[in-house]
Amino acid sequence: MAQIRKIGVLTSGGDCAGLNVAIRAVAFAAMKKGWEVYGIENATDGLIARPMRYRKFSFSDFDFPYARLGGTMLGTNNSGNSNIQRSADGSTEELTDEEALERFKSAVNELGLYALVVIGGDGSMYITSQFCKKAGIKMIGIPKTIDNDAPGTDEAIGFATARNVVMDALDKLDTTANSHQRLMILEVMGRGAGHLALEGAIAGMADICLIPEIPYTYEGVLSKLRHLWSSGRTHALMVVAEGIKTPEGKNVYSANGRTFGGVGNYFADRLAKEKDNFNVRCTILGHVQRGGTPVSRDRILASAFGVHAVSLLAKGLTDRVVVAHQGKISDMPLSKVLKIVRTAVNPRGEMVKTALGLGMYIGEKKK
Ligand code: F6P
Repeated sequence: MAQIRKIGVLTSGGDCAGLNVAIRAVAFAAMKKGWEVYGIENATDGLIARPMRYRKFSFSDFDFPYARLGGTMLGTNNSGNSNIQRSADGSTEELTDEEALERFKSAVNELGLYALVVIGGDGSMYITSQFCKKAGIKMIGIPKTIDNDAPGTDEAIGFATARNVVMDALDKLDTTANSHQRLMILEVMGRGAGHLALEGAIAGMADICLIPEIPYTYEGVLSKLRHLWSSGRTHALMVVAEGIKTPEGKNVYSANGRTFGGVGNYFADRLAKEKDNFNVRCTILGHVQRGGTPVSRDRILASAFGVHAVSLLAKGLTDRVVVAHQGKISDMPLSKVLKIVRTAVNPRGEMVKTALGLGMYIGEKKK
């Protein structure tokens, strides 16, 4: 087994709460073994930029306040493109794939890194793994995403905090919905996965929740609302996952045309026109779901993931992804994880059964 002296750690893809806790865990566990730990800034960009962007960690780097805060102290990149490099003076240079790889390789060699610990979602894990493979450097992946659809793991860093944000928003919307006799629609992130919307809706006690994995009908939504109003309710909470299609089967994108966003307003506009005179408002929760200090669940998960990642390296195991499965922290081969499709909500799973048991409208039952 190689004598490990130096490792790198980076965060890649969209940020979320708990990333700093994971960086701290990797750094502490590795430095305890006498290894040097380099924090690479802005994902792979830090190794491609010239001058390189990195910092050598010491224990005191994690004193107040970084480890407790949301975001990532190392910065990140979710554009999927490290070839466009911005210099300190604001100018940009565009590298070819070969030039970017050459720089990555020479940076890894110059720093003398044995392995990179990559804290990322499925997209960034794939992109970084390609760099690592071509540059001949070992990698360990740690899954993070508020969408909770990272392949191979039951739970990813950031999900629990984001779920709390959704719950808090619903708690707040409920009081104002009640005061004004309104139907409040809350649009929740998650891309093509409905975990955040569904679990947030259960915790926040919503009446309706629409997610990409379960077909729904506009009539189904309307009939649920009419049923509520006819039974005396004068307000309601409806959660829509940003990735659901309209009843006509269309995706709704934000103004930038790249990310989901706006399907909540689609429903608000359409429902407001019904003869029922629903008093409807829509809130798009947006990036607030990615911020905030991590809840205890995320801190524990991120700490356990980071420590496990270092223990794999210490055992000489590389090119693996740390996962949580059935309450245990374990790991899987990176090659296997990269082949697994994102984890969608299981329409026959526990969360769906729970929502149905609560009488929430979540779509149409399969005939
Ligand atoms: O994948 C995480 C996520 O927050 C999604 O839920 C959301 O659709 C997307 O990232 C937003 O990306 P961006 O930060 O580029 O707007």
